[in-house]
Amino acid sequence: MKELQGIAPLLLDWYDGHARILPWRENPTPYRVWVSEIMLQQTRVEAVKPYFERFIRELPAIEALAAVPEDRLLKLWEGLGYYNRARNMQRAARIIVDEYSGKMPEKYEEVLKLPGIGSYTAGAIVSIAFGLRYPAVDGNVLRVLSRVEKNYDDILKQTVRCRYERQIQEVMPEDRAGDFNQSLIELGAITCVPKGIPRCEECPLKALCKAHRDGVEQDLPKKTPPKRRKIEDRTVLVLVSDNCAALRRRPDKGLLAGLYELPNLEGHLSSDEALNYVKNQGLVPIRIQKLPEARHIFSHIEWHMAGYAVKVEETQDTKKEEGEGIFFVEKEQMEKMYSIPAAFDAYTRYFKQRY
Ligand code: ADE
Repeated sequence: MKELQGIAPLLLDWYDGHARILPWRENPTPYRVWVSEIMLQQTRVEAVKPYFERFIRELPAIEALAAVPEDRLLKLWEGLGYYNRARNMQRAARIIVDEYSGKMPEKYEEVLKLPGIGSYTAGAIVSIAFGLRYPAVDGNVLRVLSRVEKNYDDILKQTVRCRYERQIQEVMPEDRAGDFNQSLIELGAITCVPKGIPRCEECPLKALCKAHRDGVEQDLPKKTPPKRRKIEDRTVLVLVSDNCAALRRRPDKGLLAGLYELPNLEGHLSSDEALNYVKNQGLVPIRIQKLPEARHIFSHIEWHMAGYAVKVEETQDTKKEEGEGIFFVEKEQMEKMYSIPAAFDAYTRYFKQRY
């Protein structure tokens, strides 16, 4: 896109005069850049500062992060949320210690392979710490670029992000790759702001910006909100017979493909309907007990579950081996042999109850 030709000198000039003094910008080692970028993914700059300082004081190098007990690591992360990010950092630190003698690899592709590091973080690390020409396109950068180009493509789409990454790589300067990336991030954070009125008068890209030219800055970027989840009512059955409980294998395609589950049916069944289903399976119910309702949220579907515990007589059918349809497994074996998706957590606990 021709709008982006020539942005590098404008941005670098502006950055030299406007960059905030931030702790991770002094002495930008790969480790410091990495820690700061992971923290900044979820929290504002001002809030990150004290966490960053404390984290680096206590875990000053990759080896220290690899070795710290998980409890302590999570304590240092407390308040930042998304604890998996900290756990992934530790997994990556251990790989770096084991496979790279404790030094961050200097190749983009190898950094990208580490747990918890996507194209944005990998680009930030190698450009800021090693000066390599790789883009670091985060939400700030997507906002700036979609406004400069007045482009209404949905910035939440991976294809759109990839296109901007390619465009940035093309116009990246030979030197100061890290400053160039940070200048775009900084511009998005303090000038081309996400909320409220952008400070276009102070923007080094004002003369090129098509959204500004047409007065539509605040209509961009375009983000299509994720589709509303489909709600499915289901009835989950805890079918027990003596020391066994019933499982079923899910189909090989679709949601939770090929995993084991508690028998469940569409809709919220009355206890008579649930008993009918049980009898149709060739089982002889002895007792039925209503269980509390529960919900589970998947990315596109939400299950609203009703549940029943049904004790059934021990018969030939309860001895049926794993195969089509429902089969019974010794409760003790269940945990060891079968991984049942978390969606059923609210009901698997009733396996322990005596009926
Ligand atoms: N947000 C994400 N990365 C950043 C950085 N390096 N500096 C300031 N804000 C940021």
